[in-house]
This record gives sequence, C-alpha cells and structure tokens, in this order.
Amino acid sequence: MNNYVNLAYLVSVVCFIVGLKKLSSPKTARYGNALASVAMLIAIVASLLHSDVLSYSAIIIAFIVGGAIGAVAAVRVQMTGMPEMVALFNGSGGFASALVALSEYSQTGTDEYTKMAAISIGASVLIGAVTLTGSVVAYGKLAGKVPSQPITYPYQNFANGVVFLLIVVLFYPICVATSPTWALCLLLVLSLALGVALVIPIGGADMPVVISLLNSYSGLAACATGFVLENQLLITAGSLVGAAGIILTALMCKAMNRSLGNVVFGAFGVADSTGTTKAADGDRTVRDYGIEDAAMVLDAASSVIIVPGYGLAVARAQHVTHELGQLLEKRGTTVKYAIHPVAGRMPGHMNVLLAEADVPYEQLVEMDMINPEFETTDVALVLGANDVVNPSARTDKDSPIYGMPILDVDKAGTVIISKRSLGTGFAGVGNELFFADKTMMIFGDARQTLTELVAALRDGS
Ligand code: TAP
Repeated sequence: MNNYVNLAYLVSVVCFIVGLKKLSSPKTARYGNALASVAMLIAIVASLLHSDVLSYSAIIIAFIVGGAIGAVAAVRVQMTGMPEMVALFNGSGGFASALVALSEYSQTGTDEYTKMAAISIGASVLIGAVTLTGSVVAYGKLAGKVPSQPITYPYQNFANGVVFLLIVVLFYPICVATSPTWALCLLLVLSLALGVALVIPIGGADMPVVISLLNSYSGLAACATGFVLENQLLITAGSLVGAAGIILTALMCKAMNRSLGNVVFGAFGVADSTGTTKAADGDRTVRDYGIEDAAMVLDAASSVIIVPGYGLAVARAQHVTHELGQLLEKRGTTVKYAIHPVAGRMPGHMNVLLAEADVPYEQLVEMDMINPEFETTDVALVLGANDVVNPSARTDKDSPIYGMPILDVDKAGTVIISKRSLGTGFAGVGNELFFADKTMMIFGDARQTLTELVAALRDGS
C-alpha cells in the first residue's frame, strides 16, 4: 500500500508545482489554485491511507474542527482582512509542524534517531515556534490589536542575538544527550519568545512583507518535519512553500526598492496618518475640481489608463470602477488598468480586487508594460493611489521611496486624482504630483466620486 501512497505523493507534488506555475498569470491563476487544492486533497487522502496511521478517531475530530474553522474564516474574511488571515494560517501551519516533530520525539526519544533527524526535530520546533508567535504579533499589528508602531528598546538586536545563540547551543544536547526533553522544552520557550522579539520592532505597515517571510518559515518548518518523519511529500511541499515565500518576499522588497534587512531591522513603514502634503507651497496650490470638470475631460479622452491603489480597496470601489471603464469603452475610449506590483497592501492586491469586479484580465497591464504608454494617453485616472505614482521616487534622494519604480502617470496628458484629502500614503511622504499643472484633484471617497462620475457621464450622453 505504501508504494501507492508514495505514487500519490508524487502526483500531488507535480500538481503543486504546475499549480504554482499557473498562479503566475491572472488568466490561469484560478485554475492553478484549483489544481493546488486537488493536490492537497490527494496528499491528505494518501496520508490517511498510510500504514503508520493507527487510529482515525482523533484525525476525524481534528478534520471537522479545523475544516469548520477554516471554512468559516474563509467565507467571512473581507478582502482587506486577507493578510491577517494568511498570518494566522501561517502561524498555525508552522506550529503544527513543530508539534508533529515533538510528538514524534515523545513517542520514541531522540536516541532512536540519527543526528540528522534530531537536528530536524530541533529545526522544526525552532522555526515552527518562531512562525507561530511572529505571525500572531503580525496579525495583532495588522488588526490593530497590538500597537502597530515599531516597539524598540536599547540593545534589542544584541538581546535577540543572545537568544538566538542560546538556541544554537541547545542543538548540542538535542543531538547527543540520551534524553534531551529539557533542551527541547527550553528550545520551544526561547523560540516562542524569539518570534515575538523579531516582529515587535517592525512597523505595522511592513507586515505584508513579514507575513510573506513567515509564510516561507512555515514551509521550512514543514520541510524539517518531513525529514523527521521521512515523508517525501512534506519535504517537497515544505520546500515549495519555503521557496515561494522567500521569492515573493524578495519581489516585494525589490518593488519597494528596499532590502529585506531594511524591512526587518529598519523601523520604516509606520504610516503617518496625520501627515499631509502641504495644500499650498509657495506660489503653488492644489487645484480642486468638481465631478462635472472631470466628466468633461473623460468625455473628450480617447484613451484612459485607470491606476488603482490602496484607497480603492478601502473605498471598496472596484465595481463602480469597472462600471466607469465599461461606460468609457462604450463611447469608444480605450481603457486600460495599470498594475503596480506593490499597489495596495498585499501581493496581487489590485489584481484580486479588479478580478472581483470582473475586469477582463487583458485590460490589466503590469507596470513595465504600461509605463511607455502614459506619454500617448489622454487621461491617467488615479484612484486611491499615492506612493506608487509619486514622482519624487525618481528624483528626491532623501525620500524614503527614492528608487522605487513608479507608474509614470505624470507623463499622461491629464492626471485626475481621486482621494479624500492631501493625506500621505503608506510611506508617509508628500506627493508633488498633486501640485502639477496637469493634475485635477477630486477630493472625496473614491466610491462616491466614481458613482457621481458615472452618473455625470450618463447624463451627458
Ligand atoms: P498608498 O500610497 O498607501 O496611498 C493610498 C491613498 O489612498 C492614501 O493617500 C489615501 O489618501 C487614499 N485613500 C484612503 N482611503 C480612501 C478612500 N476611501 N477613497 C479614496 N482614497 C482613499 O497606496 P498605494 O499607492 O497603493 O501604494 C502602496 C504602498 O504600500 C506603497 O508604498 C507600498 O510600498 C506599500 N506596501 C505595499 C505592499 C504590497 S505587497 N502591496 C506591502 C507593504 C507595503 P486620503 O487619506 O487623502 O484619502
């Protein structure tokens, strides 16, 4: 039977890999997700048929309780609450791996194991426990249950370094002692503490990157447990999660033009909610327009690029955005949507948001592809985006976003910006674009503004 189980594991791993590959394009992402779900089902069924399973009663109870919690959480979560949910899932996954490794140890003791397996148990406990508490703190910061400001204190990195060193030292008794239960318990406690200590100094706004990193850790914990159980599926699937998580983390850092070290050890990303761009700067003032003005400009435009940002998600204005896009297209206007890789607060945020409103995938154009088009576009319609269109990222060496690639909306004929105020975005920096002669600011909630714009365009037709 176990041969068939291993064959099923192989099929499952291939489906995981193909599923992941399909996730790389919006067109095939749904299929990729479905395929990965099937792979998980095959993996679960195959594991249940394994000869090591002695009793099904505890498994069935865990399946019902865990499945019910997961289903309710998935149905109830708002799109903007997705990062919090992912954080909790990462933490649970990582710690489950640690618990499996500990239970394996409790049944046989490490003297039954090779040194490799003993190291794997220690690694699983370390990474799983760090993932659990780190993810819980990340969840707390995002959900506003823990202060989102970086919590720092003197010699913080030194103290963390000492804890990490103690953890490394503990691997010696875990490998050589005949009954290293005390060392494993101490390792667990120190690792739980380390998870908290590593995440509290990071600003709440940087949590999406941290969550992606912790996702990678949860995969590594599963991989380590795979070595303990000598389970090839766990090793491979864990490695895939570990690699995918770290690649995503690196991509997010690159898109923000920041190093991982800067995210993890720099207290950046504390969004300054009180920060604003000055309404008047010397001779320059911001030009505040009405809905009718914007409707007239859009009416006359033959090409429009819509630029969604975090504010669009906050306003939940994706459906009315699509309505506006369709209305413009009916009038013969070319409409495209420009997608910045870190617009919003989670990877693929804008893709998911616009897909929810059934915006055709072909109209979503990635930053590198769309940027050359702004120069020949009549109107760039910026909806709740700020940092990702801030030209100071190109020129202002002192700006925290200097070097971050941006959408070149300032090169379009006219820039219409919908936001509530001159408030700053995630990076807490002012935006020169608001002052530009070609910019029309329309203040107000994006959904309200777009609803009125749609009505004005309909009235005018
Ligand atoms: P932001 O720069 O954060 O700007 C969002 C803007 O939306 C704010 O200036 C806000 O201005 C406006 N807004 C909020 N609620 C609104 C509403 N109801 N209606 C209209 N506007 C509203 O967003 P962005 O341009 O998408 O940039 C994303 C930022 O997040 C980048 O700095 C990026 O580095 C960072 N980040 C992204 C990720 C990922 S993976 N996406 C992860 C970590 C960090 P008002 O208050 O004036 O309305």
